[in-house]
Parts: sequence; structure tokens; C-alpha cells
Amino acid sequence: MSCLVVVGTQWGDEGKGKVVDLLTEKSEIVVRYQGGNNAGHTVMFEDQTFILHLIPSGILREATSILGNGVVIDLGEIVKEIEQLEELGIEFAGKLKISQSCHLIMPYHKALDQMREQRRERQKIGTTGRGIGPAYQDKVGRFGIRIGDLANPTYFRQRLAEVLPEKNCLFSHYFQSKPFTIDEILEEYLEHFEKIKHYVADISSYLNEALVAKKNILFEGAQGTFLDIDHGTYPYVTSSNTTSGCASTGSGIGPQHLKKVLGIVKAYTTRVGEGPFPSELHDEVGKRLQTEGKEFGATTGRPRRCGWFDAVLVQQAVNLNGITSLALMKLDVLDHFENIKIATAYRNKEGKTITQFCSGWNLADWTPIYEEMEGWQSSTYGITDYDRLPEKAQAYLQRIEDLLGVPISLLSTGPRREETILRRPDLLLS
Ligand code: GDP
Ligand code: IMO
Ligand code: MG
Repeated sequence: MSCLVVVGTQWGDEGKGKVVDLLTEKSEIVVRYQGGNNAGHTVMFEDQTFILHLIPSGILREATSILGNGVVIDLGEIVKEIEQLEELGIEFAGKLKISQSCHLIMPYHKALDQMREQRRERQKIGTTGRGIGPAYQDKVGRFGIRIGDLANPTYFRQRLAEVLPEKNCLFSHYFQSKPFTIDEILEEYLEHFEKIKHYVADISSYLNEALVAKKNILFEGAQGTFLDIDHGTYPYVTSSNTTSGCASTGSGIGPQHLKKVLGIVKAYTTRVGEGPFPSELHDEVGKRLQTEGKEFGATTGRPRRCGWFDAVLVQQAVNLNGITSLALMKLDVLDHFENIKIATAYRNKEGKTITQFCSGWNLADWTPIYEEMEGWQSSTYGITDYDRLPEKAQAYLQRIEDLLGVPISLLSTGPRREETILRRPDLLLS
């Protein structure tokens, strides 16, 4: 038996979907434990491309796919995602389970998210507009409504009656928009619930039994380390803990089971939405990374900001998550660059140099110090054997391992399943 947590080490979109799909071959269960349909995980095999938002990437194989209690669910969207996947031939019967404790994204959460963003003059977060922040805000404020509450419509109505007056006051008076009615929400949500209620279950017990039965379990993180509500570049973050500890609290198993943590890292850095990004490139090189890496958001289609690999940032991700090995993605995107840079330290205006990242600081005060390496300028696309990589590409990977002190167990040389180098399978699922 083994458990493996897959986490993003940068600002999301590192390639978690591809890796989870690949490793699902060896796992019986795949668990999403935080976030919601703000995520966009791309999986490509044969001539098909799937973009999964809420359903774990494991659904494309035989594994049981689970949404743990830490996930927030937009009922209309999950019903839509299931129907779309079913149309593509993906089977759900007996394969999907949803924790009864998942909080619901309500229509007023989506409206609040979008109206707040519109109102913000400065400090726009650039959210996905999916209602994630307001849903988690209500969860923590004990105003939330959980998916299990829908099994008892009288109780669901009572919860709405308790919560809605305060929201409507905000909509009517502050945002000058139409208030929501209990009956409309109730009708819509009960209709959606009918379609998915057979998936709702007690996930903590299910997973603990699976652990006793020595099953392999994969935990699929969403977003990235620096979007973590506590450890990220606050306030330009998402509203959940995206770091590995949440795999325990967001699914209901003990932390002692989580001995292996795979950090997914792009061979360069990207960010979508607002917020600090020390190694961001505003020049032609940044534009080239964006074009060659096809860096456009899988959820909102927004162009992703691009920059060089930042070892200061990823070193902090190694510490925050307890990363035991790395999956280095999109190596092929760097194939034709003459020179490649790695940020190895930051310097401020006073000339002070640091190598330890601190999200509490004003990152705008710090400029990266780069180390430059020669590019390999030949194609690595689709290579599956480490020894066939150009020497200069191997030198780049070796330098990253040396800087971070963590082995690269998996390398990705293209978006498809087979375009992968499994370098140290012993560090992944056994
Ligand atoms: P996630 O949110 O972490 O699952 O990542 P996304 O799916 O949002 O973004 C990663 C993008 O990179 C997707 O379009 C993948 O198909 C693509 N991708 C993943 N690995 C590779 C790779 O090694 N090379 C190339 N060229 N593309 C990759
Ligand atoms: P995956 O799982 C990249 C970003 C948004 C915004 C901030 C807050 O595909 O890596 P939110 O809607 O969560 O309140 O937005 O977080 N963001 C992501 N960026 N990948 C994601 O998911 C993201 N999920 C949220 O762009 O800056
Ligand atoms: Mg994504």
C-alpha cells in the first residue's frame, strides 16, 4: 500500500492533470481534497483532450474517484461535467464518490465573487469568478450549506432562511442588484441533487477502510503552493490550503499515511491572474515562453504570465509541502532557447541578497538574481529515455536537483501520457 500526494509547486497549471492520469494506472483510488471548479486539469491521450475542473483526473481510468470534504461544489457545474464526460464515453457508475460534508457553491457566492471583482479599483485578484472565495468564507464563518444537507429539504430550506437575509441585504443595498429567493434556489438545487445523490457518501470511513485494505491512493491537489491561503502570495491567492497537509484534513485520513509527496513543477514559471511574480518576463522571451508553451488558462482561457524557473520559490514549496520528489514538466518548451536562466536568489534596492522565500514580504521589492545556462537547442519532444536527452538538458535538470536537494522522479517531454520519462518509479506509487 502507498499514498502519494500530488501538489503544484508554483502558481498552478504545472501539469498535475497529466501526472495524476499517468499515475492512476497504479492506484485504486484518486482523491481531490481542496478547491473547486476553479481548477482546470488537462489530460491528453490518443487523439482526445479532456479538461477536468472538479472531477478527479482518475475518472479516465478504472480507479474510484473521490471528492473529499475539503472540496467546494457547484452542483450545476458538476452535473454538467459528469454529463459531458459521459457523452465522451467515460463511465461513472460505482466510480465516483462525493463527501457528504463538501460545502456547496451557491448562486449568491458566484454573484458575490464577480461583483466584488468588478468593484475592486486596485487589488483585483483576477479570480476565476466561480464563487470559490465567498463559498469558503461562508464555510469558515459557519454560514455554509453542505451537500449532505440536501438529503433533508426541510433542513436545507431552514439553512437558506438563516443565511439568505444577510446576503440579500448586501445585494439590494450595496451592490444594488436583484435579491435571491429561497424557492428558486431550493428548486434548482433539489433538481441537481436528484442527479448526483447516489454518489454522496461517508468518505473518511471509506478511505480509512481502503488504507486497512492496503490500497494505493493518489491525492490530486488543485492550484499551486503559492496560491495557498496561508502560505501563498496573499491576498493574491485562492481560498483553500493548496499545500500537502490539506490532503489529510480535506479527505479525513491521518497525516501519518502521507509519506510521499510529489511536487509538480514546470521547467519555467507561469501565473494566471494578478499578484507578484518575481521572475516574470515582460519581454520577447516571456512572449516566446507563452507561445511555445501554449500558456492559456484551461478554465478561463486567459493568457498566462511567463518567466524563468525560480529556484527560490520552488525551494520554499519543497519545504512547505515536504516534497519527496519532483515531476518536471514541459521540458520540451525550452528546446529552442539559446540561453536558459534560473533564479537562484533575490536582491532588494539596498543590495541585500536572500535565498529564502518569504510570502509575508512585499515581493515587489525583490529582483531575482539569475544563473545562465546554455540551451540544448534540439528537440526533446516525446523522449522517453533519460539517457537520450541532450547533455545540456541533463545539466539543466541536474542543476535544478542540486539547488533544491530533491530528486526528479518523473520528466515530461510532451502533453500525452506516453511522452514521459519515469526516472525513479520507486519514489512514486509502489
Ligand atoms: P494543471 O492545472 O496543473 O493540471 O495543468 P493544466 O492542464 O492547466 O496546464 C498544463 C498544460 O501543459 C496542459 O495544456 C497540458 O496538456 C500541457 N502539458 C503537460 N505536460 C506537458 C509537457 O511535458 N510538454 C508540453 N508541451 N505540454 C505539456
Ligand atoms: P489548477 O488546478 C492557476 C488563481 C486565479 C486567481 C486566484 C484566485 O488548474 O492549477 P479563485 O477563483 O480561486 O478565487 O482565484 O487563483 N487560480 C488558478 N490559477 N491554476 C488554477 O488551478 C487556479 N485556480 C485558481 O487565476 O489568480
Ligand atoms: Mg490548470
